Amino acid sequence: MASAPFQNPRGTRDQLPEDLLLIHHLERVAHEVASAAGYEEVRTPFFEETRLFMRSLGDTSDVVEKEMFTVPRRQADDAPELSAAEALANSYTFRPEGTASCARAYVQAGCAANAPAQKWYYLGPMFRYERPQKGRERQFTQFGIEAFGSQSPLVDAEVIAVALRFFQRLGFGPELEVRVNSMGDPADRAAWSSALREFFAPQFEGVSERCADCQARFERNIFRLLDCKVPRCVELNQGAPDLFAVMGEEGREHHQRMCEALQQLQATVTEDRSIVRGLDYYSRTVFEIHYPPLGARSALCGGGRYDGLVEEMGGRHTPAMGFSIGFTPTELALAELQLPVAEDLEDLRQARKAQIYVVAMTAEDRLPAMSLAAQLREQGWRVLSDLRERSGKAQLKEAAKLDVPITLILGPDEREKDHVKLRDMGAKEEQDLAQEKLVEHLRAFFGGA
Ligand code: HAM
Repeated sequence: MASAPFQNPRGTRDQLPEDLLLIHHLERVAHEVASAAGYEEVRTPFFEETRLFMRSLGDTSDVVEKEMFTVPRRQADDAPELSAAEALANSYTFRPEGTASCARAYVQAGCAANAPAQKWYYLGPMFRYERPQKGRERQFTQFGIEAFGSQSPLVDAEVIAVALRFFQRLGFGPELEVRVNSMGDPADRAAWSSALREFFAPQFEGVSERCADCQARFERNIFRLLDCKVPRCVELNQGAPDLFAVMGEEGREHHQRMCEALQQLQATVTEDRSIVRGLDYYSRTVFEIHYPPLGARSALCGGGRYDGLVEEMGGRHTPAMGFSIGFTPTELALAELQLPVAEDLEDLRQARKAQIYVVAMTAEDRLPAMSLAAQLREQGWRVLSDLRERSGKAQLKEAAKLDVPITLILGPDEREKDHVKLRDMGAKEEQDLAQEKLVEHLRAFFGGA
């Protein structure tokens, strides 16, 4: 019986050469804007111990509760059976985000003690077992930056400005919304949590009008009630106590100074008190960048300050701030805006194109053609030769179709004299050249490869 055809797993996608043109563009803009602001690349493993994410993102975050790709560690056959909790604590999880790994690596490398000021960035796949939908995948790419070691609100402003710079470099205009908020300091959150609990308690007495997620969050993570997108819940959030009403002087001043710095950097931001972020490690500044036409899942970027995380990972108290940009929603927004314009990708397209095609006219010319192609590749040119053993005519046709600027033709006559026929495809000119003159000639043509 024929088996079903193989398919990529749900929520993942294959990126074929044509798709990678845009991805390479996003990647190079990411490298460029991060380096321009003094951030250095780090690469951490694609998977970590599960307990790292439980501790940093929080047991009650959606990511930890519902979205982790977790794999058990192998046990020896005769090892005692583990309880479910032990097995989980002992398992690995494919990273759902990059901040926890960066904080772990930062502590592990001894930065907290020796070189606390670090500016890092990363680019790579993340994994969340989400319901795949527009802009949301189970494997997706994030570009993120993390600045460790400064409590200054100037860092917050710089981080937000770097995120904006990424989008500006891609051609986005004023259609993006930068929304900022503050999660205050731990003492502020404790006071706010009590005030929220008092306000929301009546909504959970008897049969509640709140959605099932909110009902679970009331007990487990009350702040998350505020970012519920269900229309009735949004209505019921009206009038909820504001953190800013209970926030201490330092947190308030931090927020104000960050906003002033952003103004200096000409970034337009909107205060949005519903931004509480889904991960537990935040303190003070939180922000998101949205492309509103994408609807409920319109965030292209999320980030904020996490002054307690390094300590939570076992390091010294080290303030930190960062963001992550998702390529998936960014690609969707770009497509709607008909970006990037063709010229932005042209150099990438050109850099992939073959420059030279070596045509073998007869069967005896095939190996010499192949070795000529190899020699020219060593000189740095992108060179094709025929591997399908087709006629000389078919090869010439392919060279024309691929728009290769130079075709080198090797036939019995040329081989006998140690020559090659060089056809300049643009000028439609042909000349017979001694092979020893070839590299010099090609250098003159391509401008010294
Ligand atoms: P996050 O808000 O969970 O934050 O994710 C950041 C961005 O990643 C989102 O705005 C979205 O663009 C993208 N993203 C998240 N989940 C998916 C998905 N399933 N499919 C496609 N894209 C997705 C963080 O990850 C924090 N680590 C940000 C941060 C860095 N905070 C401080 N430093």
